[in-house]
Amino acid sequence: MTTALTVDVRIKPGDRRALLERDVREGLTKEAKSLPAVWFYDERGSELFDEITRLPEYYPTRAERAILVPYADEIATAAKADTLVELGSGTSEKTRTLLDAMARTGELVRFVPFDVSEEILRDAARDIAAAYGIEVSAVVGDFNRHLDAIPRDGRRLVAFLGSTIGNFTPTQRNRFYVDLDCNMDYEDRLLLGTDLVKPVPRLLAAYDDSAGVTAAFNRNVLSVLNAELGGNFDLDAFEHVAVWNEQERWIEMRLRARTAQTVDLASLDLRVHFEQGETLLTEISAKFTRGQVQDELWEAGFVVDQTWTDPDGDFLLTLARPYC
Ligand code: SAH
Ligand code: TRP
Repeated sequence: MTTALTVDVRIKPGDRRALLERDVREGLTKEAKSLPAVWFYDERGSELFDEITRLPEYYPTRAERAILVPYADEIATAAKADTLVELGSGTSEKTRTLLDAMARTGELVRFVPFDVSEEILRDAARDIAAAYGIEVSAVVGDFNRHLDAIPRDGRRLVAFLGSTIGNFTPTQRNRFYVDLDCNMDYEDRLLLGTDLVKPVPRLLAAYDDSAGVTAAFNRNVLSVLNAELGGNFDLDAFEHVAVWNEQERWIEMRLRARTAQTVDLASLDLRVHFEQGETLLTEISAKFTRGQVQDELWEAGFVVDQTWTDPDGDFLLTLARPYC
């Protein structure tokens, strides 16, 4: 078996730092404070997310796996790809089901995992190269700016799983789909995982688990700011809150200041004041309907080929293609 592992690092430490500084300054000096979700995923954050995927309350990972296991062969046959690209790949654990099915078609030659979190990406890329004996071309990049880093070789199935698309606002989603469409050829396919709208109590439990792992994941973003920007956030002074925004149909993850306080970020020469009860928006997780996914893809240049759901109807996988 020949194995070849390459890692294309599109985010150099200096760029990362400049982006973090810009995002934090902008997000914490606004009237309604917020931080972009991408900063959750340092090494600790990625570990915590992995723990979230195994929580009893966090159904999306299990639901998506419950689609992939029975339908991976059908998906692989429909996609007719020799290259699997995975955006926001993380540990690529579920993805192995797809790789196995693509290997069974006899076509699989290449895997392209793409993630912002370098350590977890390198580990996953190495493990998969060893286990499958295929070419692995990993990309350390931001899927909001570096989609052009996806190698053009082969006939590609681009998987975007875990309902990570739900962490974008509708405007960001449209930008992302259009950008992706521009980087795909007529023969390529998109496999998109989206969490479906369901009763609010189940949604809230999935984002505010009883073991407090999601709370730790949410607060970890403050540790990132402390470590990288010389911050002095007191993590215990912020409470994790998950709320359902009915109008937008998304979950909002916030950090609420338990008391009035002032935080210094030495590297930015920035002092930030929080009122008691003031919240910092750290993440949204939008929930979808089947028709909505189809419409949004259509608007951005994709036509839906096929869809699959799990037996409980919690999650949706959509296979789509660029229509011109
Ligand atoms: N696909 C996995 C992981 C989902 S968690 C699953 O389904 O379980 C979201 C993943 O996207 C994390 O691995 C995180 O590091 C990555 N990510 C978040 N923002 C990103 C960005 N802007 N660019 C690239 N990867 C990003
Ligand atoms: N893509 C995941 C989701 O929306 C990310 C996620 C799960 C998340 N739990 C979280 C993000 C808690 C922030 C906080 O389901």
